[in-house]
Amino acid sequence: MSLNSPWRADFPGILALAAEGQTYLDSAATAQKPQAVLDSLLGYYASGAANVHRAQHLPGERATRAFEATREKSARWLNAASSEEIVFTRGSTESLNLLAYGLEHLFQPGEQIVISALEHHANLLPWQQLAERRGLELVVLPLDEQGQIDLPQAQQLIDPRTRLLAVSQLSNVLGRWQPLPELLALARTQGALSVVDGAQGVVHGRHDVQALGCDFYVCSSHKLYGPDGVGLLYGRRAALQQLRPWQFGGEMVLEADYQHARFRPAPLGFEAGTPAIAAVIALGATLDYLEQLDQAAVSGHETALHAKLLAGLNARDGIRLLGAPQVALASFTVAGVHGADLAHLLTEQGIAVRNGHHCAMPLLKHLGLSGAIRVSLGLYNDSSDLERFFAALDKALELLR
Ligand SMILES: Cc1ncc(COP(=O)(O)O)c(C=O)c1O
Repeated sequence: MSLNSPWRADFPGILALAAEGQTYLDSAATAQKPQAVLDSLLGYYASGAANVHRAQHLPGERATRAFEATREKSARWLNAASSEEIVFTRGSTESLNLLAYGLEHLFQPGEQIVISALEHHANLLPWQQLAERRGLELVVLPLDEQGQIDLPQAQQLIDPRTRLLAVSQLSNVLGRWQPLPELLALARTQGALSVVDGAQGVVHGRHDVQALGCDFYVCSSHKLYGPDGVGLLYGRRAALQQLRPWQFGGEMVLEADYQHARFRPAPLGFEAGTPAIAAVIALGATLDYLEQLDQAAVSGHETALHAKLLAGLNARDGIRLLGAPQVALASFTVAGVHGADLAHLLTEQGIAVRNGHHCAMPLLKHLGLSGAIRVSLGLYNDSSDLERFFAALDKALELLR
């Protein structure tokens, strides 16, 4: 069955790559951008750049209005209770580092931070380093065969010593939704704070942070078809009030003298220095673009394409799928074939997939692997992309086996 994306023509990058003979199947790393986002970036610079929150002149006011409009749109996108619960950062990684530094004062030696075995380095290293600094125990929730955090074990491991739970919504390697409602309920029962890494999850479907009931949720614009250099940190109002500033300077201060300063509350108190103004404004254009798409049609297309990807991989001998992916991507190895050799032959045929540890080295080690190939999909991919991928895969395997 042919699955054409009705949105493909909106993405000049995917068309340009195709014209160059490149099949882009690496959207979990970063996504291509719709024309509306390119127009917004150019529009901001072409109409006169200005800094935000500082100047009362016309260009400054215009930039501030557009910048703050994105905060409103982001709050609506995630269903935050207020736009004051949205902090702009450089991306998911910076949001998580902000949390690990900004919450540090809450931890006492011997307490626990709980993460899971599938976390991206961005949701592992900041907590690991915080645990080292404060003498905390980092507890790692194990996974079941399908690549989902094991709930019965989580029930045992999340206990009264747990001060914070930080887990991914959707694994960037295993493509599996995690049982967030149950995990977040376990954290709440113990009075622990909760952090959801939504870097992958935010791209697939709409999520409601209030319904989820997490304290913090982080994501990156560049994976959500927006510009890079900007990310979101959502914090429930009461949770944000526990966070201390971690970077200092610029307009984040309420009052300063040489020896002391008082800082603004969220969100501006966590946005030291000049932010990525154009990127934030263009993230607003991204959300406008995504908002007007037929969500059911996008999900239907992604589901059908993903099923085709899994069917094609399962139909080939010697392919080991990692976990049981549900959406967007599939990671695999091939018996007797070195991943780097296969990746090289795919690259030579113009197939842009990712090979390696996918910034989840402990997970790959746990699976007994040094790397895997990941194919990931965006809403602009067609079945013809998968056909080209499978033709290239068969040719490569013929050479290698
Ligand atoms: C699950 C997950 N978390 C965090 C990140 C880090 O995102 P960024 O590099 O945009 O900060 C990624 C990026 O691949 C990811 O897949």
